[in-house]
Amino acid sequence: MTPGPGRPAVLISRLLPEPAVEMARRGAAIDAYGVDAAMPRDELLARLRGKHGLICVISEAIDQELLDACPDLKVVSNVAVGYNNVDVAACTKRGVVVTNTPDVLTDTTADFAWALLMATARRVVEADRYVREGRFQRWEYMVLLGGDIHGKTLGVVGFGRIGRAVARRAQGFGMRVLYQDAVAADAATERDLHATRTDLATLLRESDFVTLHTPLIPETRHLINVQSLKTMKKSAFLINAARGPVVDEAALVQALREGWIAGAGLDVFEEEPKVHQGLIGLPNVVLAPHIGSGSSETRLKMATLAVENCLAVLGGKTPPTPVNPEVLTRR
Ligand code: GLV
Repeated sequence: MTPGPGRPAVLISRLLPEPAVEMARRGAAIDAYGVDAAMPRDELLARLRGKHGLICVISEAIDQELLDACPDLKVVSNVAVGYNNVDVAACTKRGVVVTNTPDVLTDTTADFAWALLMATARRVVEADRYVREGRFQRWEYMVLLGGDIHGKTLGVVGFGRIGRAVARRAQGFGMRVLYQDAVAADAATERDLHATRTDLATLLRESDFVTLHTPLIPETRHLINVQSLKTMKKSAFLINAARGPVVDEAALVQALREGWIAGAGLDVFEEEPKVHQGLIGLPNVVLAPHIGSGSSETRLKMATLAVENCLAVLGGKTPPTPVNPEVLTRR
């Protein structure tokens, strides 16, 4: 655990797949927490003191206090594509490189957004419960009727890598795709994905499924609120596999209770791991514990990329996926 001469010291604050940890050990002196739970803040600060690198996950707040306590830190390698847990501006100011894990999780996360969409529309979780509870006593014509998916309109809010991957899957269902993003996709992408850019209000008004793929930034906090939920069709479904605070959860509970929309599929929550109690008792919502990128293959790829990023920075090289590359040019 003690760094040898020229050997950087790295804290891995979460249990990660062993091949990735082994790879890290080959390039640095590793202090691995080894537990699949958030490290208590005091312990994180204590163990990070004197370390040059941190490999962490989204439950760790990387803020000014942490940076002040750990002046030797050179790199924060977040094992996630989203990095709203990291004060990037503060890191940049101090010359700390921040990295994330894009691309490797795009398709897996898009798959899961679709799993939620289909489970929600076709009531898969309710159906499973129905059978387990012994209620499948005879075949019934009118039981557990859901909504169709094929031929409907999919509204993608945030048309980055994951949003586009979700739209690509919609082609197989013959769906019309609307998207909202600050930046327009190029014409070839729009053509290939049969996607049309609209403003948010039009997307909400016309979509049968609204799926969220924006990062959490001040502009997207509570992007889906009372007004937007009231703009959606009563028959529409909301899918969130992005970040919880993009949706005003209290407003969503009201919308689901009062039938402003038909249902929701949620992989993320406003105050994870806390889930709004109002959601728990509702039949028209499918809930998951933030597992969008959770396939064995992808979780290994994410951890491996995070290790590569960390070791590259500590070795004076350019990491594959920096978030604040301007720090690299200042070194
Ligand atoms: C997970 O939420 C991620 O940002 O990768």
